[in-house]
Amino acid sequence: MIPLTLAQIAEITGGQLRGDPGAVVTGEVVIDSRRAGPGGLFAAVAGERADGHEFASAAVAAGAVAVLATRPVRVPSVLVTDVPAALAALARFVIDALPAAAIAGITGSSGKTTTKDLAAQLVERLGPTIAPAGSFNNEFGHPLTVLRADAATRYLVLELSARGPGHIAYLCRIAPPRYGVVLNVGQAHAGEFGGLDQVARAKGELVEALPADGAAILNADDPRVLAMAARTAARVVTFGVDDQTAQIRAAGVRLDDLGRPSFTLLTPEGQAGVTLRLHGAHTVPDAVAAAALARELGLGLADIAEGLCTAVARSRWRMEVRRRTDGVTVINDAYNANPESVRAALHALRHLAQDGRGFAILGHMAELGEVSRASHEDIGELAARAELAGLIAVGEEAAPILAGARRVRSWTGEALAVPDGAAALDALANQLKPGDVVLVKASRAAHLEGVATILAGEDEDR
Ligand SMILES: Nc1ncnc2c1ncn2[C@@H]1O[C@H](COP(=O)(O)OP(=O)(O)OP(=O)(O)O)[C@@H](O)[C@H]1O
Ligand SMILES: [Mg+2]
Repeated sequence: MIPLTLAQIAEITGGQLRGDPGAVVTGEVVIDSRRAGPGGLFAAVAGERADGHEFASAAVAAGAVAVLATRPVRVPSVLVTDVPAALAALARFVIDALPAAAIAGITGSSGKTTTKDLAAQLVERLGPTIAPAGSFNNEFGHPLTVLRADAATRYLVLELSARGPGHIAYLCRIAPPRYGVVLNVGQAHAGEFGGLDQVARAKGELVEALPADGAAILNADDPRVLAMAARTAARVVTFGVDDQTAQIRAAGVRLDDLGRPSFTLLTPEGQAGVTLRLHGAHTVPDAVAAAALARELGLGLADIAEGLCTAVARSRWRMEVRRRTDGVTVINDAYNANPESVRAALHALRHLAQDGRGFAILGHMAELGEVSRASHEDIGELAARAELAGLIAVGEEAAPILAGARRVRSWTGEALAVPDGAAALDALANQLKPGDVVLVKASRAAHLEGVATILAGEDEDR
């Protein structure tokens, strides 16, 4: 954070100052009062469960200089009418004060966090980099991330999400990117958008925001993404796995016994071997996209390849693979679920379970709209075709998965509907033996990560 006085903060946000105008905010801006610290600014937000204003005093007691609030509080504050808008104004001020920082945005339906974490680990080789933790990608997380930048920052690698038209354009106004990566257009939130073409419209707002001297980094394997080339003033750079014309490409992809990909990274400057520490073939396009971005920012091929080989999964519950000491393997992919990512996870499960039995504990995929039922049935069918030994659907909304699995007449595995995660654990208890692999996956709302954690136990020998 660049130091700002409360007077400046009031001016930038158009807010009303209630406190010492000369007091200086030097620390992090947070919306979680438990994370408030010395020199910071606490933004009070009224959420579904709690109202941040009630924690204003606690935040100041923890060291926050003041509170950004929409109603009077008993501690030093700047009163504004809209906290996200105030955060956006502050973030834009910081960006304008740091013209030397190169800004990259990453969007897509699946793999934003994975790609952002990989890209950040590459770009950090070039200089001080700000990237969000986890999925800080919306009207709160995005400005909070940007506000962490200071005079030393050279790169911002940002994750941009959309739940409707205009959202990405809004995030791009807060921190105008010069580099934009679009990963894919998939079913995630498609119900809210009204279909894949609308998803593409919204994701493409990122490339529309790029300047002529910027670069639009597009997935050549996804026609809806490639078509975005027509919507940008920036130079287009393509990446991919299947499309041989992609400028940055992975060839010869193979997986080890834990599903970790190796491939040859092909670039105009030459080629290099890469082995990822991430699991699943679907991480390859993410890695290639990260490579393409790092290359645009000036990182050389050797550094890119070495960086990809050493990069770790920074954000939890995405394809975490744990091999228990009893020989059972647990895949915790419970962070989120949409048709593309469940398909990717089932492919990885099938690969890992080559020499044993595969089980999947699946919760529902949220926000799919009218294609929801059919999408769940298709996933069930895919699971049955993967010849899983057991398929457990958690919760009523996941039940169509089993209906889809039953469409595969030749499938001999066990299908089970359970009400919650505890029942799923009960159903598997005493069944698992060495060599078995269990995938746990569902939308965030299902909170199945606890199931995966219990299943994985404390024994990790990864
Ligand atoms: N290229 C990809 N294609 C399909 N699935 C993917 C891809 N990359 C990652 N995934 C899977 O998608 C899920 C979410 O991954 P990740 O958190 O990286 O995506 P995200 O786009 O940031 O999601 P969110 O919208 O929730 O922030 C994980 O299960 C991950 O394994
Ligand atoms: Mg994310």
